Amino acid sequence: MTDTAESKTESDNRERYYYDTWMESAGVPIHRGHFVSDLRTIEVGYWEERECNAAFLQLIGQQGVSEGRVIEIPPGETVKSYKMAIDDVVYVISGTGSTRLWSDESSSSSGHVFEWHDRALFQIPANHYREFSNLHPTQPARLLHYSYMPVAMSVIPDADFFFNNPFNPELKMDEVASNFGDAKEVYNSVQGRSYWTGNFFPDMAAWDKLRDHGGRGGGGSVVKIRFAGSQMGTHMSVFPNGVYKKAHRHGPGRLIVIPSGEGYSLLWKEGGEKVVIPWQQDSVFTPPEGWFHQHFNLGANPARYLALGPLPQFGGHEEDISTREIAYVREDRWIREYFEEQLAKVGQTTLMPEEAYTNPSYSFKRRA
Ligand SMILES: [Fe+2]
Repeated sequence: MTDTAESKTESDNRERYYYDTWMESAGVPIHRGHFVSDLRTIEVGYWEERECNAAFLQLIGQQGVSEGRVIEIPPGETVKSYKMAIDDVVYVISGTGSTRLWSDESSSSSGHVFEWHDRALFQIPANHYREFSNLHPTQPARLLHYSYMPVAMSVIPDADFFFNNPFNPELKMDEVASNFGDAKEVYNSVQGRSYWTGNFFPDMAAWDKLRDHGGRGGGGSVVKIRFAGSQMGTHMSVFPNGVYKKAHRHGPGRLIVIPSGEGYSLLWKEGGEKVVIPWQQDSVFTPPEGWFHQHFNLGANPARYLALGPLPQFGGHEEDISTREIAYVREDRWIREYFEEQLAKVGQTTLMPEEAYTNPSYSFKRRA
């Protein structure tokens, strides 16, 4: 086991992607490793082209698949607008501000404007200009952007295609505006459960429209989100104090950010050493493709983790549940012991029921 962010995977030895060349050309810090402990304080640097401070995240397991990009907006300022040809998800790390959206067909003055604050989640639709303003007079604002630009740039290796493209979106500004209204619940009859759709979610730490998520254990709940008119989506899990979820694995590229709570996650490749990812509000990490990962709550309150992505083709859920998830009755005894040790350090004891470790059919009562 290692407590560092330095572990290497085979993916570190893959060939460079076109996206990597573009990312490095920005000349701003690139944060690597398995995790970043606090997005509010990571180093950013001046990005001349965008005329603002920024940094990239390329965590182990994101390479060639998903983009993480942080921008900082100075107090009271508006940063230079730009257009981008693919959907871009934005999570507000901290700050109070507004975004103006428009297309070549409309104008900036007839675009759609919406305001946001800490922990809002929204998606900028493809082919729109976007302009971010910080409405606070003294505090900087930070935004985390998430997209599938590495995949897109491997298909079309031309940055101008994505940032200097005259194509007009079919979406009219009134449709854009309506997608930024209240999110709507949609029932998926194939899956037999609902998801939420829209382009704006005001506060992921306060979002309370959750449904039971009993299958993954721990007595938690979940919301699934599909952004309007997009195949991009996300989900957020909430799980109570004193417990942990079952280990599971899936496809690549998810970026997990913590809206609230304290705890840690374990990441490991089957048969490999376990990596401990300590987390708190605004930590971020990525489970590499096919690695087991497992989330543990060490706080006094429910914890929340927001998993950005994936595109449907990166789900990686084809594997049977019996091998992609580890039931508590099958897990390495060390998992439980380590959790109990960590709880003791913060003066707490486990609330995992003994029966969960002996009865394969044990079902938690929902507590969060
Ligand atoms: Fe996962």
